[in-house]
Amino acid sequence: MSDDYHLFTENIYMKFGIDLKQYKEAQMKRRLTSLRDKRGFHDFQKYYIALTKETELLHEFMDRITINVSEFYRNPKRWEVLKDTIIPLIKPNQGELKIWSAACSTGEEPYSIAILLKEYFPGIQPTILATDIDEKVLERAKTGAYLEQALKDLPKSLKQKYFTKNGELFEVDPTLKRLINFKKHNLLEDNYPKNVDLIVCRNVLIYFTDQAKDKIYHNFATSLSQNGVLFVGSTEQIFSPNKFGLKLIDTFFYQKEDK
Ligand SMILES: C[S@@+](CC[C@H](N)C(=O)[O-])C[C@H]1O[C@@H](n2cnc3c(N)ncnc32)[C@H](O)[C@@H]1O
Repeated sequence: MSDDYHLFTENIYMKFGIDLKQYKEAQMKRRLTSLRDKRGFHDFQKYYIALTKETELLHEFMDRITINVSEFYRNPKRWEVLKDTIIPLIKPNQGELKIWSAACSTGEEPYSIAILLKEYFPGIQPTILATDIDEKVLERAKTGAYLEQALKDLPKSLKQKYFTKNGELFEVDPTLKRLINFKKHNLLEDNYPKNVDLIVCRNVLIYFTDQAKDKIYHNFATSLSQNGVLFVGSTEQIFSPNKFGLKLIDTFFYQKEDK
């Protein structure tokens, strides 16, 4: 790592608590160098000083390190498995279900979970915690208004039932919002919630180093309740899940192993 970039990562960590070293380096450095150059800074030290002074620059920097793309029912077949197999396995009858959508971006994922439960599991009382490191996306998630593109994989009947069209935007039903608690959380730094029945964490671990991933899987396994399940993204299979006390139960679903 060049000294200039190395010092930058240290400064960013001390000032903002974001540990860039835990993200894959080549990819992150390329993304930040092009942004820095675009703003006319020729080294990372000058760019860092500017970031501490100008909020707009800081927002842009956050946007660059956090890739926020999301969709409702992203990879629809996995959501079918969640409905038909996984939820009945975790909670065969009625009762409470504690869910955590980690790195939820603009909210498409936690709202998809809320829709699925309301529609197909009316006997279950869900509490959904939805977190992300980026406060700006959390604000958008709370607003819950989306362009049609984000809804392309959601079955039509659900789109009609749970959204109201307002101009170009589709607004989520307020009853869904009441099920979700949006909160800032850094997967690399903050404490993890306990006794979670279902953790949904998709399309973020690909950006982390193997070491950071291992730490996160370990923390997820500790977070899960007995029989709890971790649902990961469609490029994010865990190679030795038993290392973390997890076992594969369906493609991209891992259950906490009995002790
Ligand atoms: C591509 S989005 C994934 C959204 C959603 N889970 C999905 O699969 O559609 C990745 C999200 O990870 C968040 N993120 C990046 N680093 C994070 C960290 N250290 N802790 C928590 N969230 C993080 C970003 O802010 C971004 O919103």
